[in-house]
Amino acid sequence: MAGAASFTTTTLLFVLLSQTAFTAAASIGNFLRDFDITWGNNGRAKIMNDGNLLQLSLDQKSGSGFQSKNQYLFGKIDMKMKLVPGNSAGTVTAYYLSSQGPEQDEIDFEFLGNLSGQPYTLHTNVFTRGKGNREQQFHLWFDPAADFHTYSILWNPQQIVWSVDGVPIRVFDNLEKRGVLYPNSRLMRVYSSLWNADEWATRGGLVKTDWSKAPFVASYSGFNADACVWHPAAGSSTCANGRSSNGWFGEEMDATGLQRLKWVRKNYMVYNYCTDPKRFPHGLPPECSTGF
Ligand SMILES: *[C@@H]1O[C@H](CO)[C@@H](O)[C@H](O)[C@H]1NC(C)=O
Repeated sequence: MAGAASFTTTTLLFVLLSQTAFTAAASIGNFLRDFDITWGNNGRAKIMNDGNLLQLSLDQKSGSGFQSKNQYLFGKIDMKMKLVPGNSAGTVTAYYLSSQGPEQDEIDFEFLGNLSGQPYTLHTNVFTRGKGNREQQFHLWFDPAADFHTYSILWNPQQIVWSVDGVPIRVFDNLEKRGVLYPNSRLMRVYSSLWNADEWATRGGLVKTDWSKAPFVASYSGFNADACVWHPAAGSSTCANGRSSNGWFGEEMDATGLQRLKWVRKNYMVYNYCTDPKRFPHGLPPECSTGF
């Protein structure tokens, strides 16, 4: 009897554990379910490991790319990425949210490749109604091609925060009250592409892509979107992990976040449009007055 009882207990435990595993897996993205490959014939983009891994590649004929099936209006969206290793000079891996059609809203991460041993530049920007010109660039405190790291966009009604492994690197506050357009009405998809941009990407275009190193490959895993998803058939959206006051929807940067942001800006920021007045003969954009 003791044997039977422990068998039952073990079985029950197994069932509970597998349910937990299932629930956890269900809340995490799957590339087969959540994305469409939109660019790059002949297997340049491929989804592997039952939808848990995606790779983009670039050769002299073409790059490749994918986009989310869902459209979002606000979210906290994470992606693990491992960038092109070795000599990635001339390549750009873009990972961004964008609305469709003209005058787009857009929130960007772009990774500009470099020669082996030289740092990638992480380029960020935000567009509202088609207007960008808000570049901030960073080097990273690790080699982004050696391992997967998490790149996150928190986009809620208060602010947009770009984070790397949970460390905020940039914030764009909602300053609509001061006349700065904020992306809060257009649905966005998640996009990524790997392409050749050797006219400008590496040291301003001085270093060209070395095609003898092709194909160049970037890898993706661990997609997670706690987001408000638009359901076209229903004409409405539902928000994952809620609009509760302490959830992502209401999140605002706390003191720890601010401290980390300052650490990144002090040590790793290599360009900031807000400190480049010669680009703005009529004065710096109003959002620059926040200091970020
Ligand atoms: C590449 O390396 C050079 C030299 O260290 C650096 O100035 C530059 O910011 C790096 N990134 C790119 C994309 O050029």
